[in-house]
Amino acid sequence: MCGVIGYVGEAQDADFLFDGLKRLEYRGYDSAGVAMIADGEVYVQRAEGKLKNLKAKLRHMPESAFVGMGHTRWATHGKPTELNAHPHTSRKIVVLHNGIVENFRSIREQVTGFGYAFQSETDTEAAAHLLDHLFQQQDSQKPAADRMEKAIQLLMKELEGSYAFGILCLEDPSVLFVVKMGSPVVLGRKGNLSLMASGMTALVEHTQDLLMMEDKEYALLRAEGISLYQADGTPVDRPFKRVPWTSAMIEKGGFKHFMLKEIHDQPTSLGETLTGRVDRNTGLLSLEELGIQGLDLKEIENIHIIACGTSFYAGMLARYAMEEALGLPVMVELASEYRYKTNTCSSASLAIAISQSGETADTLQAIKLAKERGAQCLALVNVPGSSIGHVCAAESLMRAGPEIGVASTKAFTAQVLSLMLISLATAQQTQRMTAAEILAKTDALFRVPRYVESFLTQTESLESIANKYKNNTSILFIGRGPHYPVALEGALKLKELSYIHAEGYAAGELKHGPIALVDENMVVVCICPRDAYRDKTLSNIEEIRSRGGKIISIGTVGDTELKSISDEMIEIPEVEAWVVPFLTTLPAQLFAYWVAVHKGTDVDQPRNLAKSVTVE
Ligand code: AGP
Repeated sequence: MCGVIGYVGEAQDADFLFDGLKRLEYRGYDSAGVAMIADGEVYVQRAEGKLKNLKAKLRHMPESAFVGMGHTRWATHGKPTELNAHPHTSRKIVVLHNGIVENFRSIREQVTGFGYAFQSETDTEAAAHLLDHLFQQQDSQKPAADRMEKAIQLLMKELEGSYAFGILCLEDPSVLFVVKMGSPVVLGRKGNLSLMASGMTALVEHTQDLLMMEDKEYALLRAEGISLYQADGTPVDRPFKRVPWTSAMIEKGGFKHFMLKEIHDQPTSLGETLTGRVDRNTGLLSLEELGIQGLDLKEIENIHIIACGTSFYAGMLARYAMEEALGLPVMVELASEYRYKTNTCSSASLAIAISQSGETADTLQAIKLAKERGAQCLALVNVPGSSIGHVCAAESLMRAGPEIGVASTKAFTAQVLSLMLISLATAQQTQRMTAAEILAKTDALFRVPRYVESFLTQTESLESIANKYKNNTSILFIGRGPHYPVALEGALKLKELSYIHAEGYAAGELKHGPIALVDENMVVVCICPRDAYRDKTLSNIEEIRSRGGKIISIGTVGDTELKSISDEMIEIPEVEAWVVPFLTTLPAQLFAYWVAVHKGTDVDQPRNLAKSVTVE
């Protein structure tokens, strides 16, 4: 989950790297470092903690350099200290790394036997020493770049695990070497500048023409251009693609935090998710626009949704609509657990991997298992050309736009909406719903952006409610039916943003144990709009109140009975069933946001977390 950026070809100062790392800091922020080569010397500066700690050290870097790279770290091996910060050096080679070298212990022993001494506890340093050893073994009469290329080919045979390496070689500072296996790498060109980064957000301010490297590839970046190769040295000819993201989209746009911007982005992002996918007159959905034209939808007998975290909850929520539309069993599976169960996937299965980043290692490994079992695989991702998208036969883009805040918000609602559209398109293709039924659903979904926008214009009360309950040490979220996954998501948001222990429960489950937690100190967020689940949820609320628990309800405007038994009530309009979850999600997102703000935690970069979990 680290952030990596590098350039070669035009003189830049260290701020060029620093600014790029700022756009990647959401990927990890335990420590950071930069390296440049100038006047025949390697310059490295590193700092523990947030990126701003590195800024003060940049004065020790050369004024400008033809080649350089930077790294912001999410610690996997070794504590987040300066010594463990990247880049790491081995004689005249500099290496930075995103990923995990799983056999690093045996490599550490091996290179120690070659006489290498370690400065750090990292797997990266072990890889750097091995690379140097392999480089030294090459014929010194050959050009340094050729020797490094050969050493890289040999290194890729030795390493197990995931890595995106940036490599500098003092003997040839005209080349930035890049190696990709399991961790994301995107390349870009602008004039004589060749660029690499672990995410598009660091490159789109320079160029929107990008190229995603694939596993087991390496690249030599020069002023003249980029040469891409397979691990055995076979050249690869892959075109650059234009991505529709601009740096303005990545800025905060006047909001205090990326997360708040992204919450308020949702009318736009949900509109984007809908755009071009439905003929508004007929309600007919476009398989091509949804990216599912390559799937044989008529053969599907069951659906496996595979994801982690918020994306998993999006799958749990969409399952209700999917099963209603298709009448097929939908299993929603935690990616990290998927490999431990008897896999019932088959060629009659559609396996859908949901991933905002498209790089989550658990989800990537799980969808590969489904693919091995013969399932048709669909990636529902936000980043085009991602690793998960590459593994699947079909890729559907949720079109939420860049999501920088570590806590996922607009991606969640975009995922749910995308899955609803995919369900309707599948129902259309397999005649499981009539055209009239589909049209009614798509009409309702086209009202979602407007309802969301309207709700977001009246959220002042949420901040005061959040401030009132910010010091609670334990908060429950409950809901029935589709409100249960929203309860889980609301609890996750609160946990990851405010560090308050929160749990989501199916409301009907309270009486089977959790209600023992309820006393006058317990706050329970109850998702209870006016629908088929309301009456039983009202009973749960009464059970909580009779034990002294405080009630924050999310209910339908005008529901005076619910209001009378709530300490706080957040109102949403009466809308169609498939629209409701988008509106009950918003207060859960904003409640968590404002609690975090009033507690003073780091909203966009909560402790211990990273935006994209690219290790298992
Ligand atoms: C959500 O707020 C978290 N940041 C986390 O649970 C996230 O949803 C999960 O890691 C999955 O990420 P992905 O969608 O990029 O695969």
